[in-house]
Amino acid sequence: MMSTDRAGAILVTGATGFIGSHTCVDLLAAGHRVVGVDNFLNSSPRALDRLRKVADRDLDFVRLDVRDRDALDEVFRRWKIDGVVHFAARKAVGESVEMPLEYYDTNVNATLGLVRVMAEHDVRRLVFSSSCSIYGTVDRVPITEDTPARPTNPYSRTKWMCEQILADVCAQDPAWHAISLRYFNPVGAHPSGLLGEDPRGVPNNVMPYLAQVAVGRRAELAIFGDDYPTPDGTGVRDYIHVVDLAEGHRLALDHLDDQPGHRVVNLGTGTGTSVRELLDAFSAACGRTLPHRVVPRRPGDVAALVADPTLAREALGWTARHDIARMCRDAWEFQRLNPAGYDDEEGA
Ligand code: WQD
Repeated sequence: MMSTDRAGAILVTGATGFIGSHTCVDLLAAGHRVVGVDNFLNSSPRALDRLRKVADRDLDFVRLDVRDRDALDEVFRRWKIDGVVHFAARKAVGESVEMPLEYYDTNVNATLGLVRVMAEHDVRRLVFSSSCSIYGTVDRVPITEDTPARPTNPYSRTKWMCEQILADVCAQDPAWHAISLRYFNPVGAHPSGLLGEDPRGVPNNVMPYLAQVAVGRRAELAIFGDDYPTPDGTGVRDYIHVVDLAEGHRLALDHLDDQPGHRVVNLGTGTGTSVRELLDAFSAACGRTLPHRVVPRRPGDVAALVADPTLAREALGWTARHDIARMCRDAWEFQRLNPAGYDDEEGA
Protein backbone atom coordinates (compact mmCIF):
# COMPACT_ATOMS: atom_id res chain seq x y z
CA MET A 1 0.00 0.00 0.00
CA MET A 2 1.42 3.38 -0.97
CA SER A 3 1.82 5.98 1.74
CA THR A 4 -1.38 7.80 2.53
CA ASP A 5 0.44 10.89 3.70
CA ARG A 6 3.86 12.30 2.83
CA ALA A 7 4.19 14.53 5.92
CA GLY A 8 6.83 12.99 8.16
CA ALA A 9 5.65 11.36 11.37
CA ILE A 10 7.32 10.10 14.53
CA LEU A 11 6.66 6.42 15.21
CA VAL A 12 6.25 5.75 18.96
CA THR A 13 6.28 2.11 20.04
CA GLY A 14 4.70 1.37 23.42
CA ALA A 15 2.63 4.51 22.79
CA THR A 16 -0.06 3.79 25.42
CA GLY A 17 2.33 2.90 28.22
CA PHE A 18 3.20 5.17 31.16
CA ILE A 19 6.12 7.04 29.56
CA GLY A 20 5.06 6.44 25.95
CA SER A 21 1.67 8.10 26.40
CA HIS A 22 3.14 11.18 28.07
CA THR A 23 5.75 11.41 25.29
CA CYS A 24 3.02 11.26 22.61
CA VAL A 25 1.24 14.15 24.34
CA ASP A 26 4.48 16.16 24.39
CA LEU A 27 5.33 15.41 20.73
CA LEU A 28 1.81 16.33 19.55
CA ALA A 29 1.87 19.57 21.54
CA ALA A 30 5.19 20.43 19.87
CA GLY A 31 3.56 20.00 16.44
CA HIS A 32 4.84 16.55 15.48
CA ARG A 33 2.68 14.07 13.58
CA VAL A 34 2.62 10.87 15.68
CA VAL A 35 1.95 7.24 14.74
CA GLY A 36 1.59 5.18 17.89
CA VAL A 37 1.77 1.39 18.10
CA ASP A 38 1.14 -0.86 21.08
CA ASN A 39 -0.06 -4.40 21.88
CA PHE A 40 -1.65 -3.30 25.19
CA LEU A 41 0.45 -5.87 27.09
CA ASN A 42 0.97 -3.40 29.94
CA SER A 43 -1.71 -0.82 29.13
CA SER A 44 -5.24 -0.83 27.68
CA PRO A 45 -7.43 0.67 24.92
CA ARG A 46 -8.74 3.00 27.63
CA ALA A 47 -5.22 4.40 27.99
CA LEU A 48 -5.38 5.30 24.28
CA ASP A 49 -8.76 7.01 24.79
CA ARG A 50 -7.32 9.04 27.65
CA LEU A 51 -4.21 9.91 25.68
CA ARG A 52 -6.46 11.30 22.94
CA LYS A 53 -8.40 13.31 25.53
CA VAL A 54 -5.24 14.87 26.96
CA ALA A 55 -3.51 15.58 23.64
CA ASP A 56 -4.62 18.69 21.83
CA ARG A 57 -4.22 16.94 18.43
CA ASP A 58 -5.04 13.42 17.33
CA LEU A 59 -2.53 10.70 16.58
CA ASP A 60 -2.68 7.68 14.30
CA PHE A 61 -2.62 4.36 16.14
CA VAL A 62 -2.13 0.73 15.12
CA ARG A 63 -2.51 -2.15 17.55
CA LEU A 64 0.45 -4.47 16.94
CA ASP A 65 3.26 -6.37 18.58
CA VAL A 66 6.61 -4.87 17.59
CA ARG A 67 7.91 -8.43 17.02
CA ASP A 68 5.46 -8.72 14.08
CA ARG A 69 7.73 -7.50 11.30
CA ASP A 70 5.05 -7.65 8.60
CA ALA A 71 2.80 -5.41 10.70
CA LEU A 72 5.70 -3.02 11.32
CA ASP A 73 6.59 -3.05 7.62
CA GLU A 74 3.00 -2.06 6.81
CA VAL A 75 3.26 0.96 9.15
CA PHE A 76 6.37 2.18 7.30
CA ARG A 77 4.52 1.75 4.00
CA ARG A 78 1.42 3.65 5.16
CA TRP A 79 3.23 6.62 6.71
CA LYS A 80 6.43 8.50 5.98
CA ILE A 81 8.31 7.97 9.24
CA ASP A 82 11.02 10.54 10.05
CA GLY A 83 12.15 9.04 13.33
CA VAL A 84 11.29 6.43 15.95
CA VAL A 85 10.98 6.55 19.75
CA HIS A 86 11.11 2.95 20.99
CA PHE A 87 9.49 2.28 24.38
CA ALA A 88 7.82 -1.10 23.80
CA ALA A 89 9.36 -3.56 26.27
CA ARG A 90 8.79 -5.50 29.45
CA LYS A 91 10.30 -3.65 32.42
CA ALA A 92 9.89 -5.50 35.73
CA VAL A 93 13.20 -6.59 37.23
CA GLY A 94 11.77 -9.39 39.38
CA GLU A 95 9.63 -10.77 36.51
CA SER A 96 12.68 -10.78 34.23
CA VAL A 97 14.44 -13.19 36.61
CA GLU A 98 11.42 -15.54 36.43
CA MET A 99 10.98 -15.36 32.63
CA PRO A 100 14.30 -14.35 31.01
CA LEU A 101 13.51 -15.76 27.54
CA GLU A 102 10.33 -13.68 27.31
CA TYR A 103 12.39 -10.60 28.22
CA TYR A 104 15.06 -11.33 25.61
CA ASP A 105 12.34 -11.90 23.02
CA THR A 106 10.21 -8.82 23.78
CA ASN A 107 13.09 -6.47 24.53
CA VAL A 108 16.05 -7.57 22.38
CA ASN A 109 14.52 -9.56 19.50
CA ALA A 110 11.88 -6.87 18.98
CA THR A 111 14.53 -4.13 18.85
CA LEU A 112 16.55 -6.14 16.30
CA GLY A 113 13.44 -6.48 14.12
CA LEU A 114 12.58 -2.80 14.46
CA VAL A 115 16.09 -1.70 13.45
CA ARG A 116 15.98 -4.01 10.41
CA VAL A 117 12.59 -2.71 9.25
CA MET A 118 13.72 0.88 9.81
CA ALA A 119 16.81 0.37 7.64
CA GLU A 120 14.74 -1.35 4.94
CA HIS A 121 12.64 1.82 4.76
CA ASP A 122 15.67 4.11 4.95
CA VAL A 123 14.72 5.42 8.41
CA ARG A 124 17.81 5.65 10.57
CA ARG A 125 16.85 8.03 13.41
CA LEU A 126 16.07 6.36 16.74
CA VAL A 127 15.60 7.38 20.39
CA PHE A 128 15.79 4.31 22.59
CA SER A 129 14.28 3.85 26.07
CA SER A 130 17.12 2.56 28.22
CA SER A 131 17.54 2.47 32.00
CA CYS A 132 19.85 3.42 34.85
CA SER A 133 19.52 -0.18 36.02
CA ILE A 134 22.30 -1.14 33.59
CA TYR A 135 24.76 0.52 36.04
CA GLY A 136 23.97 -2.10 38.68
CA THR A 137 25.78 -1.53 41.99
CA VAL A 138 27.84 1.64 41.68
CA ASP A 139 30.78 2.73 43.82
CA ARG A 140 29.70 6.36 43.99
CA VAL A 141 26.95 8.79 43.03
CA PRO A 142 26.11 10.88 41.10
CA ILE A 143 26.47 8.57 38.12
CA THR A 144 27.91 9.78 34.80
CA GLU A 145 27.40 8.04 31.44
CA ASP A 146 30.98 6.71 31.43
CA THR A 147 30.34 4.72 34.61
CA PRO A 148 30.94 1.06 33.69
CA ALA A 149 27.73 -0.87 32.97
CA ARG A 150 27.28 -3.82 35.31
CA PRO A 151 23.73 -5.05 34.70
CA THR A 152 22.67 -7.57 37.34
CA ASN A 153 19.41 -9.02 36.01
CA PRO A 154 17.86 -10.12 32.69
CA TYR A 155 15.83 -6.88 32.35
CA SER A 156 18.83 -4.58 32.68
CA ARG A 157 20.91 -6.92 30.50
CA THR A 158 18.31 -6.59 27.71
CA LYS A 159 18.65 -2.80 27.88
CA TRP A 160 22.45 -3.06 27.79
CA MET A 161 22.33 -5.48 24.83
CA CYS A 162 20.03 -3.15 22.88
CA GLU A 163 22.47 -0.29 23.47
CA GLN A 164 25.29 -2.47 22.13
CA ILE A 165 23.22 -3.38 19.05
CA LEU A 166 22.63 0.31 18.34
CA ALA A 167 26.31 1.13 18.90
CA ASP A 168 27.41 -1.58 16.45
CA VAL A 169 24.81 -0.64 13.81
CA CYS A 170 25.81 3.03 14.05
CA ALA A 171 29.51 2.13 13.80
CA GLN A 172 28.85 0.11 10.66
CA ASP A 173 26.56 2.64 8.96
CA PRO A 174 27.26 6.35 9.62
CA ALA A 175 23.84 7.23 8.23
CA TRP A 176 22.42 6.13 11.61
CA HIS A 177 21.72 8.56 14.45
CA ALA A 178 20.65 7.01 17.77
CA ILE A 179 20.40 8.18 21.37
CA SER A 180 19.78 5.81 24.28
CA LEU A 181 18.17 7.57 27.23
CA ARG A 182 19.04 6.01 30.60
CA TYR A 183 16.16 6.97 32.89
CA PHE A 184 16.42 6.92 36.63
CA ASN A 185 13.12 6.50 38.48
CA PRO A 186 10.13 7.71 36.42
CA VAL A 187 7.16 8.77 38.60
CA GLY A 188 4.28 11.23 38.70
CA ALA A 189 1.41 11.74 36.25
CA HIS A 190 0.00 14.23 33.78
CA PRO A 191 -1.38 17.29 35.66
CA SER A 192 -4.80 16.66 34.07
CA GLY A 193 -5.14 13.53 36.23
CA LEU A 194 -6.11 11.58 33.10
CA LEU A 195 -2.77 9.89 32.40
CA GLY A 196 -0.62 8.19 35.00
CA GLU A 197 1.14 5.08 36.19
CA ASP A 198 -1.38 2.28 36.37
CA PRO A 199 0.52 -1.01 36.76
CA ARG A 200 -1.44 -4.25 36.59
CA GLY A 201 -1.52 -6.25 39.84
CA VAL A 202 0.59 -5.38 42.89
CA PRO A 203 2.96 -2.51 42.03
CA ASN A 204 6.67 -3.40 42.12
CA ASN A 205 7.69 0.23 42.38
CA VAL A 206 7.43 2.43 45.44
CA MET A 207 5.51 5.41 44.03
CA PRO A 208 2.47 3.57 42.63
CA TYR A 209 2.44 1.43 45.76
CA LEU A 210 2.43 4.54 47.95
CA ALA A 211 -0.40 6.01 45.88
CA GLN A 212 -2.44 2.85 46.39
CA VAL A 213 -1.83 2.99 50.16
CA ALA A 214 -2.99 6.62 50.13
CA VAL A 215 -6.20 5.75 48.29
CA GLY A 216 -6.87 2.77 50.55
CA ARG A 217 -6.17 -0.02 48.05
CA ARG A 218 -3.14 -1.24 50.07
CA ALA A 219 -2.90 -1.45 53.88
CA GLU A 220 0.61 -0.04 54.35
CA LEU A 221 3.95 0.59 52.70
CA ALA A 222 6.67 -1.95 53.48
CA ILE A 223 9.97 -0.06 53.61
CA PHE A 224 12.58 -2.46 52.22
CA GLY A 225 15.35 -1.97 54.76
CA ASP A 226 16.51 0.99 56.84
CA ASP A 227 20.09 -0.19 57.37
CA TYR A 228 21.62 1.16 54.14
CA PRO A 229 24.64 3.51 54.26
CA THR A 230 22.38 6.51 53.52
CA PRO A 231 21.41 9.54 55.68
CA ASP A 232 18.28 7.91 57.13
CA GLY A 233 19.16 4.28 56.31
CA THR A 234 16.53 3.84 53.58
CA GLY A 235 17.19 3.53 49.84
CA VAL A 236 17.97 6.70 47.89
CA ARG A 237 16.82 7.17 44.29
CA ASP A 238 16.68 9.91 41.64
CA TYR A 239 12.96 10.26 40.97
CA ILE A 240 12.06 12.08 37.76
CA HIS A 241 8.65 13.44 36.75
CA VAL A 242 7.23 11.64 33.71
CA VAL A 243 6.42 14.99 32.07
CA ASP A 244 10.11 15.96 32.30
CA LEU A 245 11.02 12.56 30.91
CA ALA A 246 8.67 13.03 27.95
CA GLU A 247 10.26 16.38 27.12
CA GLY A 248 13.68 14.70 27.28
CA HIS A 249 12.62 12.34 24.48
CA ARG A 250 11.45 15.18 22.25
CA LEU A 251 14.70 17.06 22.81
CA ALA A 252 16.69 13.90 22.06
CA LEU A 253 14.79 13.63 18.75
CA ASP A 254 15.55 17.30 18.03
CA HIS A 255 19.27 16.73 18.66
CA LEU A 256 19.66 13.38 16.90
CA ASP A 257 21.30 14.93 13.84
CA ASP A 258 23.84 16.96 15.88
CA GLN A 259 26.27 14.11 15.39
CA PRO A 260 26.18 10.67 13.73
CA GLY A 261 26.50 7.49 15.72
CA HIS A 262 25.12 6.25 19.02
CA ARG A 263 25.09 8.32 22.21
CA VAL A 264 23.89 7.50 25.73
CA VAL A 265 22.39 10.18 28.00
CA ASN A 266 21.24 9.95 31.62
CA LEU A 267 17.84 11.46 32.39
CA GLY A 268 17.62 12.28 36.08
CA THR A 269 17.34 15.31 38.35
CA GLY A 270 20.69 14.87 40.09
CA THR A 271 18.84 14.92 43.43
CA GLY A 272 18.49 11.83 45.62
CA THR A 273 15.38 11.17 47.72
CA SER A 274 15.18 8.46 50.39
CA VAL A 275 12.16 6.22 50.90
CA ARG A 276 11.37 8.00 54.17
CA GLU A 277 11.59 11.40 52.48
CA LEU A 278 9.30 10.15 49.72
CA LEU A 279 6.83 8.86 52.30
CA ASP A 280 6.80 12.29 53.99
CA ALA A 281 6.38 14.08 50.65
CA PHE A 282 3.49 11.84 49.64
CA SER A 283 1.84 12.25 53.05
CA ALA A 284 2.03 16.02 52.54
CA ALA A 285 0.53 15.66 49.05
CA CYS A 286 -2.43 13.52 50.15
CA GLY A 287 -2.92 15.24 53.51
CA ARG A 288 -2.63 12.16 55.73
CA THR A 289 0.05 10.13 57.47
CA LEU A 290 0.53 6.91 55.53
CA PRO A 291 0.85 3.59 57.42
CA HIS A 292 4.21 1.91 56.93
CA ARG A 293 6.63 -0.55 58.53
CA VAL A 294 10.27 -1.49 58.00
CA VAL A 295 10.94 -4.98 56.63
CA PRO A 296 14.19 -6.64 55.50
CA ARG A 297 15.96 -5.41 52.38
CA ARG A 298 14.66 -6.52 48.95
CA PRO A 299 17.21 -8.79 47.22
CA GLY A 300 19.01 -6.95 44.43
CA ASP A 301 18.34 -3.44 45.76
CA VAL A 302 21.24 -1.02 46.01
CA ALA A 303 21.71 1.80 48.55
CA ALA A 304 21.72 4.78 46.19
CA LEU A 305 21.23 5.59 42.50
CA VAL A 306 21.45 9.29 41.54
CA ALA A 307 22.17 10.70 38.09
CA ASP A 308 24.71 13.28 37.02
CA PRO A 309 22.50 15.14 34.49
CA THR A 310 25.27 17.33 33.06
CA LEU A 311 25.37 15.68 29.62
CA ALA A 312 21.57 15.94 29.17
CA ARG A 313 21.84 19.66 29.84
CA GLU A 314 24.82 20.21 27.55
CA ALA A 315 23.85 17.87 24.68
CA LEU A 316 20.05 18.18 24.73
CA GLY A 317 19.42 21.46 26.53
CA TRP A 318 17.31 19.45 28.99
CA THR A 319 16.91 19.96 32.73
CA ALA A 320 14.24 18.43 34.95
CA ARG A 321 11.80 21.14 36.11
CA HIS A 322 9.52 19.29 38.56
CA ASP A 323 10.49 18.62 42.19
CA ILE A 324 9.52 15.70 44.45
CA ALA A 325 6.55 17.60 45.93
CA ARG A 326 5.08 18.07 42.44
CA MET A 327 5.78 14.45 41.53
CA CYS A 328 3.84 13.29 44.60
CA ARG A 329 1.04 15.80 44.04
CA ASP A 330 0.49 14.71 40.43
CA ALA A 331 0.76 11.01 41.28
CA TRP A 332 -1.76 11.47 44.11
CA GLU A 333 -4.16 13.45 41.88
CA PHE A 334 -4.11 10.69 39.26
CA GLN A 335 -4.68 7.97 41.87
CA ARG A 336 -7.43 9.96 43.64
CA LEU A 337 -9.30 10.44 40.36
CA ASN A 338 -8.76 6.81 39.32
CA PRO A 339 -8.93 4.82 42.58
CA ALA A 340 -8.94 1.46 40.76
CA GLY A 341 -6.76 2.54 37.83
CA TYR A 342 -7.90 2.93 34.23
CA ASP A 343 -10.22 -0.04 34.39
CA ASP A 344 -12.54 1.52 36.92
CA GLU A 345 -14.34 3.53 34.25
CA GLU A 346 -18.01 2.91 33.73
CA GLY A 347 -18.56 0.00 31.42
CA ALA A 348 -14.95 -1.03 31.78
C1 WQD B 1 12.74 2.49 44.85
C2 WQD B 1 13.14 2.45 46.32
C3 WQD B 1 13.29 0.22 47.20
C4 WQD B 1 8.99 -0.65 46.81
C5 WQD B 1 13.14 0.03 39.38
C6 WQD B 1 13.83 -0.77 38.34
C7 WQD B 1 14.52 0.12 37.36
C8 WQD B 1 13.57 1.17 36.84
C9 WQD B 1 12.87 1.92 37.96
C10 WQD B 1 12.83 0.53 34.65
C11 WQD B 1 14.15 1.34 46.63
C12 WQD B 1 12.17 1.00 47.88
C13 WQD B 1 10.25 -0.06 46.76
C14 WQD B 1 8.37 -0.87 48.06
C15 WQD B 1 10.27 0.10 49.16
N1 WQD B 1 12.61 0.59 35.97
N2 WQD B 1 10.87 0.31 47.92
N3 WQD B 1 9.04 -0.49 49.20
O1 WQD B 1 14.11 -0.61 42.26
O2 WQD B 1 14.98 1.79 42.19
O3 WQD B 1 14.10 0.75 40.12
O4 WQD B 1 12.24 0.93 38.79
O5 WQD B 1 13.75 0.98 34.02
O6 WQD B 1 14.96 -0.69 36.30
O7 WQD B 1 14.81 -1.55 39.00
O8 WQD B 1 12.53 1.35 41.94
O9 WQD B 1 10.42 1.98 43.04
O10 WQD B 1 11.10 -0.47 43.03
O11 WQD B 1 12.35 1.16 44.48
O12 WQD B 1 10.86 0.43 50.19
O13 WQD B 1 7.23 -1.41 48.16
O14 WQD B 1 11.98 2.17 47.09
O15 WQD B 1 14.01 -0.56 48.13
O16 WQD B 1 15.03 1.83 47.63
P1 WQD B 1 14.01 0.77 41.72
P2 WQD B 1 11.51 0.97 43.11
